[in-house]
Amino acid sequence: MIKLETSIPGPKSLRILKGLKDKNGGWSVSYPLVFSGKGEGPYCEDIDGNVFLDFASQIASNPLGYNHPELLETLKSYSGRSPIKYAGQDFAVREHLKMIEEITDIAPRGFDSAFLINSGAEAVENAMKICMRKRPGTKFGISMEKGWHGRTLGALSLTNSNYVHKKGYMRLPMVRLPYNENAAERLEKLLRTEASADEIGFVMLEHVQGEGGYNIAPKKMVEDLRRITHQNKIPYIADEVQSGMGRTGKWWAFEHYGISPDVFTSAKALQVAAVVAPHSMFPHEAGAISSTWGGGQVIDMALGISTIEIIKKDKLLAKNARMGKYLLGLIQDMKGVSNQRGLGMMLAFDVASAHMRDNLIAECVARGLLVLGCGSKSVRLIPPYVITEDDADIAISIIEASLKRITAHGFSHHGAICDFIHCGKHHT
Ligand SMILES: Cc1ncc(COP(=O)(O)O)c(C=O)c1O
Repeated sequence: MIKLETSIPGPKSLRILKGLKDKNGGWSVSYPLVFSGKGEGPYCEDIDGNVFLDFASQIASNPLGYNHPELLETLKSYSGRSPIKYAGQDFAVREHLKMIEEITDIAPRGFDSAFLINSGAEAVENAMKICMRKRPGTKFGISMEKGWHGRTLGALSLTNSNYVHKKGYMRLPMVRLPYNENAAERLEKLLRTEASADEIGFVMLEHVQGEGGYNIAPKKMVEDLRRITHQNKIPYIADEVQSGMGRTGKWWAFEHYGISPDVFTSAKALQVAAVVAPHSMFPHEAGAISSTWGGGQVIDMALGISTIEIIKKDKLLAKNARMGKYLLGLIQDMKGVSNQRGLGMMLAFDVASAHMRDNLIAECVARGLLVLGCGSKSVRLIPPYVITEDDADIAISIIEASLKRITAHGFSHHGAICDFIHCGKHHT
């Protein structure tokens, strides 16, 4: 249950957040709470004793909510052991093979190998690298408008949703396709007039765009792109870092389209990151791809393995499809919002402006509901897979009450919350 003991952020959280603002080199914008580690299901407690309902899931990285009893059991089984990190691409632990077996088991037939790495961006990097290695001499890659693939320089070159992420950084050569039914025509024209297929390293896309706006790929776009890439032997990479691991009601979002990529990535909800592909896609020269820690984080791998087992055992794919429909119905009935959309538990809606969206998020958080923005003026809903219909009803009633408040005449936010969540100086 939501419980608000202090104003948000509470005084203990504020002290730590201020320290981070001063000293954290990566500071951008933070949510106004500091997690205590306490919580249950979709509810989490901050260090001031406030309890929030979490519809942000650590940006889709916490699929099973807080303190899931079976994940706690997994953790307990590692207590008292050291080290917990091995240089896992060179020095093997059992969990490495088990993790690969689990992820290839939930991949389509033929995806019999995986390369484990640390983060989503590194999975994207390595997905690109294996495609380039397979077809030497390619000159550029292809990504989509509003695509978002991470912040390492290669992944960032593919990322097209927000200039602030790219400003000042060098790029790999990329061509961008529209994320709509014109994509195929653009690619065909490119192949006719600008480049040969063997110059194109890969096409990479999200089947539900994440940061770029929770945009759901049109079926025709996906079918056409897959047909053209197939005919021209251009590797097709599905980035499933955010949309994968069951969030959309299937293990992988591309499965909604009846296609199979050549390579796909996973991370976030998997706890470690992975590039998944048929064995023949990976380079066979030792050392062509590697990393000290990739696959070497034993507890992370153990938690990833348990997460897959729990999703299977508790039939959470079917539950996500069902609960996603329920939530979509609720947001479709909401007044004052538009473009309500969702695939499983990956949902979003738009409000009139970015400014209004940021105020809405701040207001929801002040009322104990954690939600995230995306795109230019969207709010995304990505609850943990363990929510109930009651939790969904509570979240929607908070969003509705927040909308009412922020659109009332003379509304403005006050206090330290304005230093967070982009609320800043722009509040109404
Ligand atoms: C689709 C997608 N790809 C890649 C990434 C990068 O993942 P990470 O932040 O773990 O590097 C993200 C992160 O949000 C993502 O949503």
